[in-house]
This record gives sequence, C-alpha cells and structure tokens, in this order.
Amino acid sequence: MENSFKRLIIVANRLPFTIKSDLSFIKSPGGLVSGLTTFLKKSKIKDYVWIGWPGSHLNKSTFKIIKEKAKRLKNHPVFIPAKQFDKFYNGFCNKVLWPLFHGFPSHVVYDESYWETYIEVNKLFCNEVAKYVTLDSIIWIHDYHLLLLPSMIRNLFPSATIGFFLHIPFPPPELFMQLPWRRELLEGLLGCDLIGFHIYEYTANFLRTLSRTLGIDHKTGLILYQDRLIKVETFPMGIDFELFYNACEKRKIKKLVKNIKNQLKGKKIIFSVDRLDYTKGIYNRLLAFERLLLKRPDFHEKVVLIMVVVPSREGVEHYQRMKKQLEEKISEINGKFGKIHWIPVLYYYRSLDFEELVAHYLATDVILVTPLKDGMNLIAKEFVASRKDKRGVIILSEFAGSAKELGEAFIVNPNSIDELTNAIEKAFEISEEEQKERISSMQERLKRYNIIKWGNDFLTTLESINEKKFKFSTQ
Ligand code: G6P
Repeated sequence: MENSFKRLIIVANRLPFTIKSDLSFIKSPGGLVSGLTTFLKKSKIKDYVWIGWPGSHLNKSTFKIIKEKAKRLKNHPVFIPAKQFDKFYNGFCNKVLWPLFHGFPSHVVYDESYWETYIEVNKLFCNEVAKYVTLDSIIWIHDYHLLLLPSMIRNLFPSATIGFFLHIPFPPPELFMQLPWRRELLEGLLGCDLIGFHIYEYTANFLRTLSRTLGIDHKTGLILYQDRLIKVETFPMGIDFELFYNACEKRKIKKLVKNIKNQLKGKKIIFSVDRLDYTKGIYNRLLAFERLLLKRPDFHEKVVLIMVVVPSREGVEHYQRMKKQLEEKISEINGKFGKIHWIPVLYYYRSLDFEELVAHYLATDVILVTPLKDGMNLIAKEFVASRKDKRGVIILSEFAGSAKELGEAFIVNPNSIDELTNAIEKAFEISEEEQKERISSMQERLKRYNIIKWGNDFLTTLESINEKKFKFSTQ
C-alpha cells in the first residue's frame, strides 16, 4: 500500500522495547506491542517514530544515553517519574479504566489523585508528540492509557490527522457512565478524526455512550463535532498468519514439540497461556479441570493441563491476590489427584519465547481460551494459525472479541463450570475429520484478515477522513 502521509507517529503507553537498568533492551509484553511491531515490519512504512514509556524506572543520569540508543530503533521514551507512574498506571489505568471497561465495576477504586495524575501523564506524552509532528504526519494513538491525548494534540495542532485504536472492550453506557470523569474522557477522544474498536459491539457501545453522555448522535458512524467530522469504525486486529502457519517447519520448534510429547507420552494435553489477570477466567478453568477429574476417573493419569501464567501488573492488589488464589487451587488439585508419575497441572509462572509458545500450540490436543471478557485475544488466533496439521480443538469464550471470527471453535460461557467441563469432554471425542474442518475454515478467515490488512485498513480509512475533512472545510 502506498500512503500519502510522510511520517507515522505511533503513541502507546509501552515502547516496543523495555529498557532495563543495565541499559539492555528486551521485547515488551502484550498483544498491542507484538501486533504493531509486526505491522510496522511488514508494511512499507519507513518513516515512523514510536513514542512510549520505556517499561521501567531508570536513573535520570542515563536518560541521555537511553534516548540516543532508543532513537536508533525509532523509539522515543517518555520518562514518567515513579510516583506519578504509580498513580497513572497502577492507579487510573489499571484500578479504574481496566476493571470498568472489562465489566468489573466492583474492582474500581475511585480516587481523585489517580485522575489528576492521568491528566498530567497524558500531558507528558503530548509534549513528546509535539516534537515530532509535521504537516504531513499521521498520529496513531493506542489504548486506554491515553484517552485524553487526542484532544490535547488537537488543541496544539488543529489540522493534525489523529487516529485512535482501543485494544480493550468499550463497555456499555450503563458502566461507562459510572465514571465521574465520563465527559472529559469522551471529549478527550473526540480530538480524533478516526476512532477504532476490535468488534462491532464495542463500536456500538461507544456510539450509544456518546449519545447518552454528550447528546452527540452519529450517522452511519460519522459524527459532526465542533465543525469536524469524526469516524467511528470496527477493525478486528489480526495476526501474522504466515509466521504462525509456517512455524512448525522450524527445526528448533520441531525438536521442542517432540520433547513435550515424549515427556508426556500417552497423555492428552490441555494447554492454556495468559497474562495473570482476573479478566482471563483462569480460576474457572481450574475449577472445570478439577470437575473433569472428579467426573471422569478414567481420565486420571491420561490427561495433563499445562497452565502458563505470565506475570503482570504486580503492583495492583487484585493481581497479587489472584496469583495466590490460583496457586492454592493448583496445589489443591495436584495434592488431591496427583501420583508419583502424574502431576495433573503443570504450572509455569513466566513467559514463553516464540519457539516455546508455538511448540506448546503444536503439542496440544485442546487449548482453553476462556476469558470472562477480552478485547480480542490473539492467543486464540495464533493457536488456530499454527496448526498446519489441522489438528487440535479450541475451546473459546463467547466473551473474547476473537469469538466473532472463530465461530467454528467450541464456544462456551466461561461462567458455567459445567459448560466448560462438558466442552473439554466433548473436545476429546471429536474425530480428526471434524477437527480438520473446523480448523481449516477458521484458518481461511485469519489468512484473509491478517495484521497487515488491519493496519492498512485503519490508516487508509484515516487518510480518507482527512480528505473528506479537507473537502468539508472548503465547501
Ligand atoms: C493489554 C493492553 C495493552 C497492554 C497489555 C500488557 O493487551 O491492551 O495496552 O500493553 O495488555 O499489559 P501491561 O500493563 O503490561 O502493558
């Protein structure tokens, strides 16, 4: 795709690299980073910068060196003082917006100082962005950490082209309107030309919220606000399909798969991998596995659950509590059912690198992707794409955005432990022919709407709004 803009300015809370105190750079966690990184690598966009937080608290004396080192990778760090960062990231982002947007209002902590810091930190990002804006640049802001940034930039650069994509769900108005700062947050977003969501449900929620909170109505997703046109649209984020599809041919991955299968010879493998988060439904998954073992003694010694939990947001109490709760349940299950030659739940509290992750996808009979709420969930898409052998079954929550595209998965309501247990039993029963049919249909879809298509669609739409905007202002 040829773009007419010259420079793309990506702004997200995290930089694609986390800079450690020894000044080494490692890849940052999360679907946002991996998706955007792949998009930038594969698309023809050469002139871009990525502005974000470097992922750790660094000594002031190192800022200059870090800036220079990061610049070579087109990364531009926003240094956030530790005290502010706590109220911004652990506070407003992850104790207010994250739980509310995922439908956990009881987890929300309303604290004025979190809100004040959220404004301050959005301003810090704005100051950094202002250094790179040119007449022909496009600014693409990402996720719930930066909801106020669009209008801050708009105030400084009235004719800027600004897009925003939300990587998490947008809640129904009844939930959003609980926020004391609901007007300010919506007005912040309305600084954009284009606002994108993963699935239609979130787009519709946003439009209804706008109407109820600010009395602003739309016409087929187009809004007229302060003499500007704003488009609201759905763009389901995809993955690098070919990368996952062809990964099984890699020597290292083949070896790892063989190793996992040898170690667990004669046993069916159930796999799950998530960031540690109460939205992911990990505890319910354990309850379902426990129920399965109670219900089906014939499965004893013949099935294992490999559960990978990736450390996350350790500064937030709900996450600390959840880790404890999960680990207690795992040891309870292993204590109750385990034998010297059979540990029912194999638990890893760490992240897996690409090769290890795909090897697990390939060695698995059944994968459980059962969040209570999830914006998209790329794990589900990666698993399906990686199965070139057309084997394996995916049990997928109806509350994951990806369920809209993966209708051939076993779709479940993760709040029903019974439904989860039955789905696992059924997954072990379906024929290879049926597995093949289901996986093939899903693969066709994932291949068509991949990460490149997602990014290009968003940017082309943003540019077309820009043209409309131009015509509109000269009429
Ligand atoms: C989700 C969010 C991302 C975030 C990622 C990891 O995918 O949408 O914005 O980066 O989780 O979370 P963290 O808090 O570690 O950045």
